Amino acid sequence: MNGSQSKTEELILALKKGLSAFLNPNHPECHVGVCPPYLYLQKAQQLIGQSPYLSLGAQDLSAYSDGAYTGQISGNMLHELGCRYVIVGHSERRHYCAESNTLVADKFFAAKNAGLIPILCLGETLSEREANQTETVIATQLSAVLEREGVTGFENAVIAYEPVWAIGTGKTATPEMAQNVHVFIRKMLAKESQGIANSVQILYGGSVKGSNAKALFSMADIDGGLVGGASLEAQDFLLICEAAKL
Ligand code: PGA
Repeated sequence: MNGSQSKTEELILALKKGLSAFLNPNHPECHVGVCPPYLYLQKAQQLIGQSPYLSLGAQDLSAYSDGAYTGQISGNMLHELGCRYVIVGHSERRHYCAESNTLVADKFFAAKNAGLIPILCLGETLSEREANQTETVIATQLSAVLEREGVTGFENAVIAYEPVWAIGTGKTATPEMAQNVHVFIRKMLAKESQGIANSVQILYGGSVKGSNAKALFSMADIDGGLVGGASLEAQDFLLICEAAKL
């Protein structure tokens, strides 16, 4: 719930211009998506146009495909508007909106059914990490989705490991800490399919910035970032995108 219409427009135009300075338009060396608030999606889509560098995503969706669910936004509506991605299970939604693992799994498949690529967020709180519960928490959150349709549910899906204690706090997990959890996630998927485990993109989120992006992205199992605060200024976000170049 950051920004305004004019800020969103300014950001997208600056990103389009900035990305064209270091990415190959025919084979962009990294994929960049932006997930503005619902109200700005349409304008954002118009500005993105046919850009080879940028895709559009939303921050949440309804678990239902249509109907009398006042205030909710369906995956079909987002798809119609040109969204490619949608975030599901962000820790702020789990926390402030009491979204359960079951609801997050419902949303994950609602996204897939609408032709969107869900970005499934997983992550432990500080007290859970301190109690050595990180793997248990991640396993529970991941299993809620895995148990529905097996590992094939993760074809055309993205996972984001976002330790809650690192989101918006300025505290970043060390590259090694993040790498260990990413390996744990991949191993869980590999029990059912080594191919899907290898190919699924696992992003790290939690205070990613220009100064730490390169070290995080250089880890073998960290495929990119889910960026909050540092995406609100084009120059900060562009530094991260440049660090993600293959
Ligand atoms: P942050 O946010 O980059 O500001 O920590 C990450 C997020 O909200 O997913």
